[in-house]
Amino acid sequence: MAHVKFHLGYFTKFGATAWPGDGKEFGSEWADGTYHIELAKMLERAKFDFVLFEDTLIVGDRYGGSMELDLKNATLAPKNDPIPLLPLMAHGTSHIGLIATASTTFYPPYLLARLFSTVDSLTRGRAGWNMVTSSEQNAAANFGLEKLLSPAERYDVAEEYVELTNQLWDSWEEGALVANTETGVYVDHTKVHKIDFVGEHFRSRGPLNSLRSPQGRPVMCQAGASERGRDFSAKNAEVVLGLMTGGVAGMKAYREDIRRRAEGFGRNPDDVKVMFLTPVTILPEGGKKPEMTEAQKQAAFEHNIVMASSSLDVDFSLYDLDSPVPQDITAGGHTSALEHMKKAGREHGTTLRQMFSAGKGSSGMDISGTAEEVADKLMEMMDEIGGDGFLLEGVGFNHQLPDLVDGLVPALQRAGAVRTDYEGTTFREVLREF
Ligand SMILES: Cc1cc2nc3c(=O)[nH]c(=O)nc-3n(C[C@H](O)[C@H](O)[C@H](O)COP(=O)(O)O)c2cc1C
Repeated sequence: MAHVKFHLGYFTKFGATAWPGDGKEFGSEWADGTYHIELAKMLERAKFDFVLFEDTLIVGDRYGGSMELDLKNATLAPKNDPIPLLPLMAHGTSHIGLIATASTTFYPPYLLARLFSTVDSLTRGRAGWNMVTSSEQNAAANFGLEKLLSPAERYDVAEEYVELTNQLWDSWEEGALVANTETGVYVDHTKVHKIDFVGEHFRSRGPLNSLRSPQGRPVMCQAGASERGRDFSAKNAEVVLGLMTGGVAGMKAYREDIRRRAEGFGRNPDDVKVMFLTPVTILPEGGKKPEMTEAQKQAAFEHNIVMASSSLDVDFSLYDLDSPVPQDITAGGHTSALEHMKKAGREHGTTLRQMFSAGKGSSGMDISGTAEEVADKLMEMMDEIGGDGFLLEGVGFNHQLPDLVDGLVPALQRAGAVRTDYEGTTFREVLREF
């Protein structure tokens, strides 16, 4: 039986992804972009749809009120702004989509619209924007705000924000640029419009002053887990990022829910690609997972607990790590992720230490094996889910890239489950190939 064909994305950050690695990218070498330019080339060789850069705006100290563990393990910081990196990566590639994260809480909408329009031109139509509302109180403090709005209020702002940026991107009609030397007209002023946007949170006169970009607007991407988040994604996003929570049945239900909601907003659900963040581990032929050293286990545990403290806005140092996940924790951040953790505590007696230990994603699914075995697992999952794709994440960050590109992807290609070449030119065209 033919397999469901699916898309591939790669999840990373503009930080020290190779730390602690094999000694080659230990220092600040990542910061000049060289490392990620090579990464984009490799992913394009394997015909990935896109690479996505997550981003946050803090040095993490939510865990125990100290920056020590964050900085020691290069978990949340240092992290550079991924937006200027996209054109650099575009320069060495021709088709792969390039998504950077930017927050609707902190970027003024006019600046963001202009920036992504510029980047879409610089990448010749391959820019994507991962829309996030941000969940770290420290980030609010970095911008002089007393505190973040509630999650629901942040989505209210984000809804209006996207309405505004869309209007700004459309303030230049297609064909506004005429560059006619005979008539002496560079831009046809009748095709450039003020928007006079007046909302509850934002006002903008418009038009944008940048040239309409190849895609008109970046490919819109979002990860909505809550009710509000799912609606926001279904209404606005073209790439929706999901988690593996609830196993394959949960993934299938999530995709169906997003597609149903998209249809409710009058969209073609096939224009929305649901991509699941999927950590994979590729092992050598006949090999088994190398035993982690105690130091590696400890570093992974510290990394996970620092990440969770920050994104859930919970100081996990205040809780007993060896009792089942306490039911009285409340999160300022990703509430649905916390609910899944509590459920594991309630139903399986899972402790916080087990939760944050190496190799245990919140889904509890372990996708490891030889390239062929991992390919089989992914295809089996996707046949059940029904379509769209995986946002791959090499466990241990980018060390596994050669195994993914030269092992996993060719196995998937041989089975006809992923593309063997690009047909479209812009990122949006590539996404809509199937
Ligand atoms: C794959 C994935 C990537 C994400 N990347 C970021 C990010 O870079 N920055 C950020 O602040 N939030 C990020 N988030 C969090 C989401 O924006 C969102 O807040 C989260 O999925 C919870 O959904 P909710 O806000 O609807 O509860 C990410 C989530 C997922 C699943």
